[in-house]
Amino acid sequence: MKRVLCFGIAVFDRIYEVETLPTGDEKYTATGYRESGGGVAATAAVAVARLGGHAAFMGALGDDPAGRWLAAEMSALGVALDVVQYVAHGRTPNACALVAPDGGRCLIIDRGTARPASAAPDSACANVDALLVDHRFPDLAAALLIGAPRTMPRILDAEGGDPEALRHLVALAQYPIFSSTGLRLCTGQDDPLAALSRVSAPQARCLAVTRGAAGSLWLIDGQVHHVAAPPVAARDTTGCGDVFHGAVALALAEGQHLLDAARFATAAAALKALNGDGWRGMPDRQAVQALLKESW
Ligand SMILES: Nc1ncnc2c1ncn2[C@@H]1O[C@H](COP(=O)(O)OP(=O)(O)OP(=O)(O)O)[C@@H](O)[C@H]1O
Ligand SMILES: [Mg+2]
Repeated sequence: MKRVLCFGIAVFDRIYEVETLPTGDEKYTATGYRESGGGVAATAAVAVARLGGHAAFMGALGDDPAGRWLAAEMSALGVALDVVQYVAHGRTPNACALVAPDGGRCLIIDRGTARPASAAPDSACANVDALLVDHRFPDLAAALLIGAPRTMPRILDAEGGDPEALRHLVALAQYPIFSSTGLRLCTGQDDPLAALSRVSAPQARCLAVTRGAAGSLWLIDGQVHHVAAPPVAARDTTGCGDVFHGAVALALAEGQHLLDAARFATAAAALKALNGDGWRGMPDRQAVQALLKESW
């Protein structure tokens, strides 16, 4: 079983279903309520575990109910928490989403106060086959990317944050894989191919950008490859990008070729869109392999 270390953020999500999104200073009644885990690195870790890898989440949780809920849920879903840091009196990142029947959303995000200690343990990358980092704690993510063995695939979910800090992480990653928003933020360009050609990433084996239902673009050795996404009746695309990055990291840890890894991740993310249901709707390896047998 290949081991993937996922460093970054975990978020406790409270999701309220409402008939209409708020428009003013009024009371609104929820028609439904659920709780879910979220956050780039934590969701990627859950995906890796469900896809048959050994996933470890490294990040910070507060010693509050949200932190305890996330730890219990990640453990139940097979994610190792040996390198999680529990921050005394820290508030776990959390979000409140109001969701209307037409799919409209209103989101409130609290980044919390729990953050990992300033130094990543030197031993963090021992016995690890791939490292995946998100942008949330850029100084620590950079330290991990620099400290990881050169032979280990080092993947960056280049999704957001401060543009300068993001560009620094991109320069350190071996596989910087952008979201469309992250690529625009990093380069100031709307056109994805023009944007990819502007990225400075001296250590990169490829550059890639995910584009929702339109699939992903990969720039490998000067050649552009489009990996189409299978058409699915998407129920909820929240976290598809996180699943995509977790699946790429696992596939590279397993030694899959880059475009095979891209297709594997594309199948996993499409099934996540189809299933919805937060972390509990994560597709397993069998489902991904069945979809990979189909052409799309
Ligand atoms: N509706 C969809 N149908 C099929 N595949 C999808 C769909 N939405 C997303 N995907 C897959 O997931 C990948 C990542 O999605 P997307 O580009 O939306 O990530 P993102 O912008 O990082 O969002 P987030 O991190 O919030 O999930 C896409 O490249 C695609 O392969
Ligand atoms: Mg994303």
